[in-house]
Amino acid sequence: MKRILITGANKGIGFATAIALLEQRPDVAVLLCSRDAGRGQAALAEIAARNTEWAARAEMLELDVADSTSVHAARASIAARFAAETTPLFGIVNNAGIGFESDDLQATVNVNTLGVKRVCDALLPLLAEGGRIVNVSSAAAPNFVSGCAPERRAFFQDASLEWPDIQELIDAVASAGEDSRRLQALGINEFNPYGFSKACVSLYTLVLARQHPEFGINACTPGFIETDLTRPVAEARGVAPSELGMAPPQQGTTAIVHLLFGQLSGNGHYYGSDTKRSPLDRYRAPGSAEYRGD
Ligand SMILES: NC(=O)c1ccc[n+]([C@@H]2O[C@H](COP(=O)([O-])OP(=O)(O)OC[C@H]3O[C@@H](n4cnc5c(N)ncnc54)[C@H](OP(=O)(O)O)[C@@H]3O)[C@@H](O)[C@H]2O)c1
Repeated sequence: MKRILITGANKGIGFATAIALLEQRPDVAVLLCSRDAGRGQAALAEIAARNTEWAARAEMLELDVADSTSVHAARASIAARFAAETTPLFGIVNNAGIGFESDDLQATVNVNTLGVKRVCDALLPLLAEGGRIVNVSSAAAPNFVSGCAPERRAFFQDASLEWPDIQELIDAVASAGEDSRRLQALGINEFNPYGFSKACVSLYTLVLARQHPEFGINACTPGFIETDLTRPVAEARGVAPSELGMAPPQQGTTAIVHLLFGQLSGNGHYYGSDTKRSPLDRYRAPGSAEYRGD
């Protein structure tokens, strides 16, 4: 069994990914993570209601990516539960995310960026050689980077950086707040907490993959998917989610499953929802030519 841990898997794209893996891959067991045990158990019950064989390959794990204590407890729980295996995980899907249209930079970065880092720091030692990490980023990341000054665009594509370089930028952006002059001094032309948090995730993916070539570590956008994260956008405009081009959650799993099990060339890359490689510094529409840069 290849065991895949998915954060934020009690609903939305994370839950749909658990279902897609159980349905498509008889060799996969899923650790369905939820920051709330009750919501996690409800998701597990939903899986059991759909298919008892799937339920036999799914377990719930409490994990709040915003809370270091919770992340460390989850690691200890996995190590104890699978004590016979030194590396019980084949894959980690860093899916938990918030703040699509939030102005709260600290909270958004704490979950979307620092949450990914916390999980990777804690769980990498439990990942089997050749294992995969999928960081669920967003098209908001290349859109954000495309609006930055040239030197900042280069920063967001620089695989030679280390985590402290990213943390330093996070601290500077948090300190600047919505002050456009201070943001511009950092080469950033818009206050966009979600886009910034995801640009940092895509960059962290690049850096982490350089540091750990023994694993397949990549990022993707799931596409524009109707979930609790995005539905308010349609509601605010008084239109149906489909009218804005939002697809159902199962369509948001394609790139994630590809990055877990597909043939990949290179490492640390960012993929579109159509499973094609995309640049880090500008949007590539699904179906258009694949990016083939360094
Ligand atoms: N939907 C889109 O169009 C779209 C586009 C690009 C990228 N994404 C990304 O896709 C991922 C999944 O989003 P979604 O659309 O499926 O949203 P969603 O339906 O709102 O699901 C988000 C999931 O993340 C969990 N979560 C939030 N904060 C957490 C924390 N501190 N610790 C652990 N789990 C936490 C939520 O748990 P609770 O139920 O407890 O809140 C929920 O399970 C996110 O990273 C998002 O940024 C989505």
